[in-house]
Amino acid sequence: YNADTKGMLKALWELPEQCARAWELGMAADVSPMDNLRQVVVTGLGGSAIGGDLLRVYATQRLDVPVVVNRDYVLPKFVGPYTLVFAVSYSGNTEETLSAYVQAREKGARIVVLTTGGKLGELAGNDGVPVITVPGGIAPRSATGYLFIPTLAVLYRMGLLPDLSHEVAECTSLLQSMREKLKPEVPRDSNQAKMLAANFHNRIPVIWGSSGTTEVVAQRWKGQINENAKAPAYWNVFPELNHNELVGFEFPGELLRRLYVVILRDPQDHPRVQKRFAITREIMEGEVAGVVEIMARGSGTLARMYSLVYIGDYASVYLAMLYGVDPGPVRVIDTLKARLA
Ligand code: PA5
Repeated sequence: YNADTKGMLKALWELPEQCARAWELGMAADVSPMDNLRQVVVTGLGGSAIGGDLLRVYATQRLDVPVVVNRDYVLPKFVGPYTLVFAVSYSGNTEETLSAYVQAREKGARIVVLTTGGKLGELAGNDGVPVITVPGGIAPRSATGYLFIPTLAVLYRMGLLPDLSHEVAECTSLLQSMREKLKPEVPRDSNQAKMLAANFHNRIPVIWGSSGTTEVVAQRWKGQINENAKAPAYWNVFPELNHNELVGFEFPGELLRRLYVVILRDPQDHPRVQKRFAITREIMEGEVAGVVEIMARGSGTLARMYSLVYIGDYASVYLAMLYGVDPGPVRVIDTLKARLA
């Protein structure tokens, strides 16, 4: 492997420990309880925003207030003194996030920043805003533990979520056991991530989750395939896709034979959604290159979500290797950012 691929694989290998460390970082943050909280907003882009979606999905059945993910320069109108805003940028230099941060300050919101530094770290430091400084040196999308799990610890410390240290510990040990079967030394026929990458190779991955816990994981897989393997991929969610996307599988001709469908499942998916998986699969199975279902592992929500994230992360790096591309650099994003400067 070249240095870049080695770096990505190292970051993946270390994800379990990253999750444990991330909880500690959140527990050490300088935050105090907040009265009359009405909303939580996570503002960020790309690899720094997906943690917001993990929080949104995680918190849906646990928090009394909504979590909104904002991937824009502009914050929603409702943001005000009763809003908690997590401003997240791994580099600290993403212009949309900097703009949203400034707005959050103007609107008098309570802010917590997650970053490695950059302009966001500097601004927050000058403004006396709490900053959770996460370790640098990896791709933002490899820092999903650092950019999500501290938000759970902060919400716990504000009295809004229970102590989740046991869930973090379960997630860490589950990922530690999973990596033994996903690592590069394990050959393809017993390595689920390598098998997936082989099935994705020269095809278009279509990743489906459900609006329980796996919706965000489907989105994560798509982003990882795009950014790590530099390849197209698409995602959607049950039951919504049964009301539109499924109809597209009536398309005649060979086009559908380029699609490889993954259905991400959770044992706690709604029973009607589970039935929908089976019927949908029957309807489109012969039309596409293949369909595979992958079940989440673990008992806690965090472990179930991350067990699926981990397989997708590894698969995207193995796909990059099959395509002969470096998984780390995202030159087209860098070019775009430079041209906007
Ligand atoms: O993973 C990546 O490299 C990107 O998706 C970045 O996260 C995105 O461009 C935003 O940058 P940052 O995370 O530094 O705010």
